[in-house]
Amino acid sequence: MRYLTFALAKGRLAEQTMDLLERIGMPCEEMKEKSRKLIFVNEELGLKIFLAKTSDVPTYVEHGAADIGVVGKDTMMEEDRNIYEMLDLNLGKCKMAVAGLPEMREKMDKCHTLRVATKYPKIATDYFYHQKQQTVEIIKLNGSVELAPIVGLSDVIVDIVESGATLKENGLEVLEEICPLSARVIVNRVSMKMEHERIMSVIDQIRKLIKEEEK
Ligand code: PRP
Repeated sequence: MRYLTFALAKGRLAEQTMDLLERIGMPCEEMKEKSRKLIFVNEELGLKIFLAKTSDVPTYVEHGAADIGVVGKDTMMEEDRNIYEMLDLNLGKCKMAVAGLPEMREKMDKCHTLRVATKYPKIATDYFYHQKQQTVEIIKLNGSVELAPIVGLSDVIVDIVESGATLKENGLEVLEEICPLSARVIVNRVSMKMEHERIMSVIDQIRKLIKEEEK
């Protein structure tokens, strides 16, 4: 039997996904041991699971190094890969938003060239250029984006807001909501043809489990 390979985004989402897989009868005991290993196998079920950096998960799936991936909608939007989006797991719910100091609420539409700091240049560009038709300067950062408007690097930020605590504790607020986010199951296009039955069976079982939980 060919291995069915999963790429998971390292961290909490991978743990939650492993829990879902275990509950549909696809456990991977090897993963529960604390180690620095990145790839795990369940020989009996022909299952391979590896942990990748979040933003790389769509790349592994697009190229077929993984058949299935689990990743946030934010990463999918930013990476814009040629893959199937199959299922919303309803995990890791949060939103993409424009945020800044309260006084920017009035000013941001009037700014000649609004400076936008973000880890998500594609999402920010799509939003300002295509949705709002506003000229902006995108400043790419790699983390702690909330710093940018405070130290004068940018006028606003485009970032993920979950509890809102990071914004609040830094005197910032949501100015505009861009879209809701949550974790998605993605599938390689060729795998979908070659391993259709196995892949759909996994997805259907997870879908069922999520539905039961919502009741
Ligand atoms: C994310 C995001 C915000 C924060 C939002 O950052 O970029 O900074 O979480 O969460 P909250 O609304 O619950 O406060 P992350 O923790 O991934 O770190 P980073 O900023 O270094 O990327």
